Amino acid sequence: MKRSEHSRHGKVVLLTGASVGLGLAIARRLLEDESLHLVLTARAESLSRFAELGIDASDRVWLRALDITNDAERRAVVEEIDAELGGVNILVNNAGITYRTVAEYATAAELSHQMNVNYEGPMALAALVLPSMRRRRTGHIIQISSAGGLVAMPTMGLYSASKFALEAASEAMYYEVRPFGVRVTLVLPGFVNSPAYKHAVVGLLSRRATEQTNDPYHPHFENMDRMIGSMMSLTSATPESVARRVVKLMHRRRAPLRLLATWDARLLWWFRRFTPQGPYVWMTYRALPGIRKWGLPSEEENPQSTSSPARRTQPF
Ligand SMILES: NC(=O)c1ccc[n+]([C@@H]2O[C@H](COP(=O)([O-])OP(=O)(O)OC[C@H]3O[C@@H](n4cnc5c(N)ncnc54)[C@H](OP(=O)(O)O)[C@@H]3O)[C@@H](O)[C@H]2O)c1
Repeated sequence: MKRSEHSRHGKVVLLTGASVGLGLAIARRLLEDESLHLVLTARAESLSRFAELGIDASDRVWLRALDITNDAERRAVVEEIDAELGGVNILVNNAGITYRTVAEYATAAELSHQMNVNYEGPMALAALVLPSMRRRRTGHIIQISSAGGLVAMPTMGLYSASKFALEAASEAMYYEVRPFGVRVTLVLPGFVNSPAYKHAVVGLLSRRATEQTNDPYHPHFENMDRMIGSMMSLTSATPESVARRVVKLMHRRRAPLRLLATWDARLLWWFRRFTPQGPYVWMTYRALPGIRKWGLPSEEENPQSTSSPARRTQPF
């Protein structure tokens, strides 16, 4: 399709991580709108999922390989869109991964991978679509962030670090590109009822902590895993309900900087914003599941533990 045919398909939407989860739910909604030209992307090894899902390539729907951490792939997709369609109108940076690790066990490689996928890659892709958006004085960059970009939970520090970074950089970008008519929105879902939790990458040393009961961080993982698992299975928010909000956002004339996409994200936002620092930290600490058992010396560390109950440091 050549640039001259662009108007036939209206706005061009570029979506990352479109073959599963929230990305797929957004893709399915967008496919219903025949006025859009969709560029649905997935990592090369996941591209075949589209055919299995009944999503076929056409003039209006392009399926492209895009690993968000790969500069050559990012450039190839954007250059093709710029040349053939005149540029991206809406970028949805959805692709993301979740590392589960405690700070002490996080390796440099794990931190770098987490930041690459959730922060550096999306920002680099945004930078590539911006020149044409700026020139045309229109465009919308939608960054799928998270309630984890508002608050940080134990064992989720790397993930939150990446989303906090995305939040900060996107907030700055909002002010930078608004004078050119380009909008930036951070979408913050909280817990979403989906199998995404199973895709979490457990760090190398943290895996040991999940498996070995005498690891000092074992209770952290055991209790947090149970809590996160049950929150994700009990919440009424689904990839479809979040996707509905994302697509509605695309049609809004005035796009907000942040869209709190689930009820728990809204609750956390207000809690964080209006609770003074001391009570905020105290309440958060007290609410951690099984917190009384965290940090108890293991029998290995304290062979007397069965006869004399171990004392533990109480920070509050
Ligand atoms: N689910 C939740 O509870 C929740 C809550 C808040 C925010 N979010 C955010 O929502 C977004 C989507 O998450 P999800 O719940 O749909 O998770 P998901 O089911 O695990 O899907 C993640 C998507 O990201 C893709 N991806 C991973 N690494 C990539 C890379 N290097 N390059 C390109 N794509 C890559 C995956 O592709 P492959 O399948 O090929 O790996 C997959 O399409 C993420 O940004 C996540 O942080 C999710």
